[in-house]
Amino acid sequence: MFKKIKTKMVTGTTILQVGSHATTALKVQNFYKKNPFPNFDDYASLTDLDEVRRSNDFLRIFKDQLGLGKKIIEVGSGTSQLSVVLSFGTNNQVTAFDATLESLQLGEVFARKYNLPNCNFVLGDIFSDPFEDGYFDCVWCSGALHHTDDPQGGFDIISKWLKKNGIIVVGLYSKFGRLKTKSRQLIFKCLGSSMWAKRIVYFLDPIIRSQTSKLKKEVWFQDQYLHPVESTHTLTEVLKWFDLMGIEFVSSVPSCTTEKVNMNDIFKKQSRGSFLSRMISEFLFLFGTGGLEGGLFLVIGRKK
Ligand SMILES: C[S@@+](CC[C@H](N)C(=O)[O-])C[C@H]1O[C@@H](n2cnc3c(N)ncnc32)[C@H](O)[C@@H]1O
Repeated sequence: MFKKIKTKMVTGTTILQVGSHATTALKVQNFYKKNPFPNFDDYASLTDLDEVRRSNDFLRIFKDQLGLGKKIIEVGSGTSQLSVVLSFGTNNQVTAFDATLESLQLGEVFARKYNLPNCNFVLGDIFSDPFEDGYFDCVWCSGALHHTDDPQGGFDIISKWLKKNGIIVVGLYSKFGRLKTKSRQLIFKCLGSSMWAKRIVYFLDPIIRSQTSKLKKEVWFQDQYLHPVESTHTLTEVLKWFDLMGIEFVSSVPSCTTEKVNMNDIFKKQSRGSFLSRMISEFLFLFGTGGLEGGLFLVIGRKK
């Protein structure tokens, strides 16, 4: 699974540490160690977590259609809820990989509590490129590459870890879909990043308003409004990354055309649309789920 690279167990856990962190990963790690993301609700059980997955059309279909006996890596897994639910009730070997020990530790405690031996935790930096080429059937990387200083370079590395015909899912902040968040970031800054400004953002942000957990509200606020490294991207950009790395486009949310995505078809090849249709789709995304959830878009590809 690993290239010839220095590995060691982190004391007192079953977390394996691989390689070392580059400067940006250290900065990001420093940020997340105070705010592990997305964190766990104190009361949440494994069944609650799986229920959240089931109520999300994308995740429900994704897990069902991915199949069994697969090697899966979640890159930038944070507190690793997705890795936990993908390993639950399957014989898939899931690797939760992240640069922040404090985040992985929360996931690891949860996975051990619910006896999920097929969920493994690895601490490291994408850019130390620790995994063998062609090892995984599925590489999932959502919400992490836009917190690096070279998202395309990071994508190139993680797509090499994928087997032929393997599936890659990339989730990034959308240039258009994130405009509402960007305007709230501006309001916060213009009001001097004060307590009052924070209260206004708490009132304006739909995710913060919908959260009942105080901890989760704060973690979302930190992640969305105080992050030290953040970039935004477009569907057109990701299609170019795919082409350069021999990844065939399968589907995306939002779609590359102006048509609504049929979640049952997320593993079926969809149209790449045109430059204009992709732009319109991303802009409309701002007024739908994208605008509500920080503008994160997902693209699925298959290695040729
Ligand atoms: C916003 S959190 C996303 C967590 C999870 N994927 C989710 O969507 O809930 C971003 C995560 O990416 C991790 N990350 C950022 N840069 C990384 C790098 N170079 N290598 C590994 N992980 C990284 C951070 O430690 C953090 O936990």
